Amino acid sequence: MIEVNQVTKRFGSFVAVDNLTFAIQPGEVLGLLGENGAGKTTTMRMMATVLQPTSGDITVDGFSVSRQSMQVRRRIGLLFGGDVGLYGRLTARENISYFGMLYGMEERALSERIIQLSRTLQMEEYLDRRVSGFSRGMKQKVAIARSLVHDPAVILLDEPTTGLDVSAASVFRRLIADLRQAGKTILFSSHNMGEVEKLCDRVVIMHRGRLRFVGSIAELKQRYRLDDLDDLFMRVVGGEHDE
Ligand SMILES: Nc1ncnc2c1ncn2[C@@H]1O[C@H](COP(=O)(O)OP(=O)(O)OP(=O)(O)O)[C@@H](O)[C@H]1O
Ligand SMILES: [Mg+2]
Repeated sequence: MIEVNQVTKRFGSFVAVDNLTFAIQPGEVLGLLGENGAGKTTTMRMMATVLQPTSGDITVDGFSVSRQSMQVRRRIGLLFGGDVGLYGRLTARENISYFGMLYGMEERALSERIIQLSRTLQMEEYLDRRVSGFSRGMKQKVAIARSLVHDPAVILLDEPTTGLDVSAASVFRRLIADLRQAGKTILFSSHNMGEVEKLCDRVVIMHRGRLRFVGSIAELKQRYRLDDLDDLFMRVVGGEHDE
């Protein structure tokens, strides 16, 4: 479970995240939406203990990101967008394996888990090839596998499907469905409203650091009496006076 309690993050005088409050339950998939610069990555970085909130706190399974960062780190799986930071000279298997060892996994459990994940993500074919020659989508799959190798209870994925093709995105959706079934707490950010509707129980829409909406897509449609997802998004982030 993740609880965000009145969290504000300032960079100098700039307020990137403004008094944000919401929670995600185990077995729930929550989508984090917002325009570029809305504060999604900053929020996730605070959850991951990479950044400290200026005020307020976040707890992960009851542990505070500011006071109990080690306990938090042990419980989370992380994937951040952009450069996924794999070692080009290592193979996919070695990259994932290295990460699992950092988490203190035993060799046998680790190698079984890698086989299982690479099957699910359909990356067996290139598991033993060097990552340096991989396409963007192939790298993204390796990064997803790496973030899940230690079977974390809480999963934070920042734009995980960027660069994935249609079939890879569908493989990813199945994986998320399995993880939800297993009772994991899952947060992911996206710019793809269709994907969010398919995957998420609820969404949080942020705008300029503030929470604009939290609830299901069905509730969102009902509130604005609109069906088109992009129109809905524009409605929520458009008017300055809502909420
Ligand atoms: N380290 C930093 N120093 C200064 N400003 C920052 C820093 N990190 C983020 N910001 C600012 O905070 C705001 C929110 O950025 P953030 O990366 O959280 O947005 P985002 O919602 O993830 O956007 P995108 O959809 O483009 O990924 C932006 O205005 C950004 O410039
Ligand atoms: Mg971002």
